[in-house]
Amino acid sequence: AKKAVLGPLVGAVDQGTSSTRFLVFNSKTAELLSHHQVEIKQEFPREGWVEQDPKEILMSVYECIEKTCEKLEQLNIDISNIKAIGVSNQRETTVVWDKITGEPLYNAVVWLDLRTQSTVENLTKRIPGNNFIKSKTGLPLSTYFSAVKVRWLLDNVKKVQRAVEEDRALFGTIDSWLIWCLTGGINGGVHCTDVTNASRTMLFNIHSLEWDKELCEFFEIPMKILPNVRSSSEIYGLMKAGALEGVPISGCLGDQSAALVGQMCFRDGQAKNTYGTGCFLLCNTGRKCVFSEHGLLTTVAYKLGRDKPVYYALEGSVAIAGAVIRWLRDNLGIINSSDEIEKLAKEVGTSYGCYFVPAFSGLYAPYWEPSARGIICGLTQFTNKCHIAFAALEAVCFQTREILDAMNRDCGIPLSHLQVDGGMTSNKILMQLQADILYIPVVKPSMPETTALGAAMAAGAAEGVGVWSLEPDDLSAVTVERFEPQINAEESEIRFSTWKKAVMKSMGWVT
Ligand code: G3P
Repeated sequence: AKKAVLGPLVGAVDQGTSSTRFLVFNSKTAELLSHHQVEIKQEFPREGWVEQDPKEILMSVYECIEKTCEKLEQLNIDISNIKAIGVSNQRETTVVWDKITGEPLYNAVVWLDLRTQSTVENLTKRIPGNNFIKSKTGLPLSTYFSAVKVRWLLDNVKKVQRAVEEDRALFGTIDSWLIWCLTGGINGGVHCTDVTNASRTMLFNIHSLEWDKELCEFFEIPMKILPNVRSSSEIYGLMKAGALEGVPISGCLGDQSAALVGQMCFRDGQAKNTYGTGCFLLCNTGRKCVFSEHGLLTTVAYKLGRDKPVYYALEGSVAIAGAVIRWLRDNLGIINSSDEIEKLAKEVGTSYGCYFVPAFSGLYAPYWEPSARGIICGLTQFTNKCHIAFAALEAVCFQTREILDAMNRDCGIPLSHLQVDGGMTSNKILMQLQADILYIPVVKPSMPETTALGAAMAAGAAEGVGVWSLEPDDLSAVTVERFEPQINAEESEIRFSTWKKAVMKSMGWVT
């Protein structure tokens, strides 16, 4: 007999840089009922290049959906209770595909990819005025965002050029690629994105909430390849295949926006920091677009419904967080699995003067320095792999401290605590170090899958679905784990200023 479930269920695809997951929540209690996760390959065909296979990403989504549904069936939970699906995704990563064959025309160029450095330099020379891009998009001209990746594909990939000429090319970030495929692909797939993902392309005007003609002209990107921009919570289309065929896809948010929603940061001044492949601190600035004077981005936080207002956020982006652990595993082989890092770090409890700046993709906020490269310094014959492991964890915390300082300066009112989430937050040493280095408490929800939760909330709340209420009074309180600073402020400052010295040494490696 099928088990009775208290209320309708909502699924969420969480397609991150390192892995894909599908998770199913009870919409009445926000309880996570089941999930499945698959790791995603990253290819590094040349120094600084980072690619992924869009079809592998798509297949991983189908696999996660099927496996999660099987697990639910084993729990005697009827999958016909799943009333909606939300999508959250790694942002900026760029796919161009052929709408006639359904085939990608090149690998996905991942947000971390540095191949567009010379494209950025050339574009910088012809920007019509210093503030031209930033005032419209909230972003600095950098290799990070999609527009320069599309420009590179148009300049370098014949198949892409030809498909554009023949009117067969579609561009999208991972959300668009997935929604197009999941809603039918060549048989009527819906080509859309949401305002949060659009705001990371560098082609989107965050004030008018439309593609910006002047920006498209500046980057020489044909507007006909761009997806339709929709709100983050509305029905985009129905699943065309698989165990959840016919279920509406009705939520879409870039993963960092999704985590902001999942952490219930709906008020002005509320912030969260997510530790994934990178690390992203977003602070809700309400209906106002706040422009940073300290290296942060202005971005669309969410727009939860066609007729609902748009909310903005200030964002501090760190390129390498969890990725440094994966690098220790895959490139140095000093750990076999990511969780082993905690054991190694615990053995020594200090980096013993070793500092690791993982500037693998240059440095993002607050420096925006593409010439930086990773360094490990302060080594002696005493240093061993445990110290390096510890220094890698500390690096994640120091980078967060840099963006928190910038955020405090921009906002004027310092954050009293930091709400955190993401895979790395299960590492207790990391969380304690973070509290020590920030010198404020670090607060973690009991259910760390806030990215998926945010996408599920958006999907469940959509008009025509209506199974999740987003009225603040209806949102259940999140239970938390707290980490208080345990070292003294002076020691914390000394360590942070030594880190800054190391950062200075990492800059200017490539010219
Ligand atoms: O901007 C890139 C970001 O969305 C990637 O997120 O979770 O894969 O580190 P994640």
